[in-house]
Amino acid sequence: MSSCGFLMATVIMLVSHQPTDILGPIESDRYMTVRSNGGLNQMRTGICDMIAVARLVNATLVIPQLDKRSFWQDTSTFKDIFNEPGFIKALEGDVHIVSDLPESLQSAPRARKHFTSWSGASYYEDVKELWKDHKVVHVPKSDSRLANNGLPIDIQRLRCRCLYQALRFSDPIEDLGKKLVERLKSRGKFIALHLRYEKDMLAFTGCTYGLSESEADELRIMREKTSHWKLKDINSTEQRSGGNCPLTPHEVGMFLRAMGYTKSTWIYIAAGEIYGGDKYISKLRSYFPNLVSKEVLATKEELEKFKNHASQVAALDYIISVESDVFIPSHSGNMARAVEGHRRFLGHRKTLTPDRRGLVELFGLLEKGELTEGPKLSSLVTKMHKYRQGAPRKRYASLPGSKGRTRLRTEESFYENPFPECICLTGKH
Ligand SMILES: *[C@@H]1O[C@H](CO)[C@@H](O)[C@H](O)[C@H]1NC(C)=O
Ligand SMILES: *[C@@H]1O[C@H](CO)[C@@H](O)[C@H](O)[C@H]1NC(C)=O
Repeated sequence: MSSCGFLMATVIMLVSHQPTDILGPIESDRYMTVRSNGGLNQMRTGICDMIAVARLVNATLVIPQLDKRSFWQDTSTFKDIFNEPGFIKALEGDVHIVSDLPESLQSAPRARKHFTSWSGASYYEDVKELWKDHKVVHVPKSDSRLANNGLPIDIQRLRCRCLYQALRFSDPIEDLGKKLVERLKSRGKFIALHLRYEKDMLAFTGCTYGLSESEADELRIMREKTSHWKLKDINSTEQRSGGNCPLTPHEVGMFLRAMGYTKSTWIYIAAGEIYGGDKYISKLRSYFPNLVSKEVLATKEELEKFKNHASQVAALDYIISVESDVFIPSHSGNMARAVEGHRRFLGHRKTLTPDRRGLVELFGLLEKGELTEGPKLSSLVTKMHKYRQGAPRKRYASLPGSKGRTRLRTEESFYENPFPECICLTGKH
């Protein structure tokens, strides 16, 4: 089943000794400056796409500026979050990266270019023209500017090398992340649960199932006030039955118990502040008392320097999620996709993705008393998730019948499943 031929040996070998061509990058006097937009994981994948673009257009990449205006409101710079010298060094065989524009170009006129979403190599061939008249091209957004599919294999592998090896977190984040992983491992096997039951997510998706009327109002008002959220009028019942709502903490408890996890299982909650706090978390805790958050795992002093930096805290969650025995996202999103892809890359580590639509149907039967929690539910839930555990498979294509940009939008993201380009099947799973 090898799709990698002589590169079978290990994943790590495949990606670490493959500069994109023998000569490496030629120091280019064409510069590209980038502002990465979005939350932590959207920025991370965007940065690696810009590395691939810099390679395609033969430009020197200036270390990207990070988003300080997004919902995350984080003032961290690139080197607060990432190991900047390590990043530059790790990719020196592929792309020339500099911390800043050379003095002589700081005030040079820049071309400004919004790249078209999901573009392929031929688009970027045309983009090269921009440097005919300017030495510096500025790119205001980095999210999803590169196609998932159809790119040269060395470019795809460069994206993986960038995201999974070169773009490491800064030392303080890596160090604390490692410590927390060790503390968890000393207790036994653990699940990392990305419990997307945070206020912004519930407001954005309009999911109010199980909440009080005043809570539902509070979320509606937040949605109405947030101008960049386009959808205002949302029917929570329809959202839920369509499988578009994050599982509630209670539902997560029922789901995991039905999947056969026992009361003694350790669960790390990789998330921000859970909406309603203990009122809702306690339902999950009644199923799984060994529930830990970073506030429990780390000391106040350890967390002190990260607080007020949402991206840095999210980076800790990311590290722990990648290293967990099982990763379970209660909702889809950039973090869920990035962690799943990373775990696939590291050897198809288990990611259990709840079938939210199917589960809501079963939970509906429980509510109506047509089903009870027990062996019957357990067998239905287990069967439903047989193929949702991160086993090796090719990236899904777009939804059948979709066209144009919708087609590209519905493809499975490259970083969610970089198979087959960056992963060899070693027969171990
Ligand atoms: C890359 O750019 C440099 C100068 O900016 C040029 O000398 C070199 O030929 C270019 N290489 C390719 C492959 O286009
Ligand atoms: C929401 O949708 C459900 C199912 O389609 C419907 O029964 C209900 O009346 C809708 N609620 C509102 C407030 O429109």
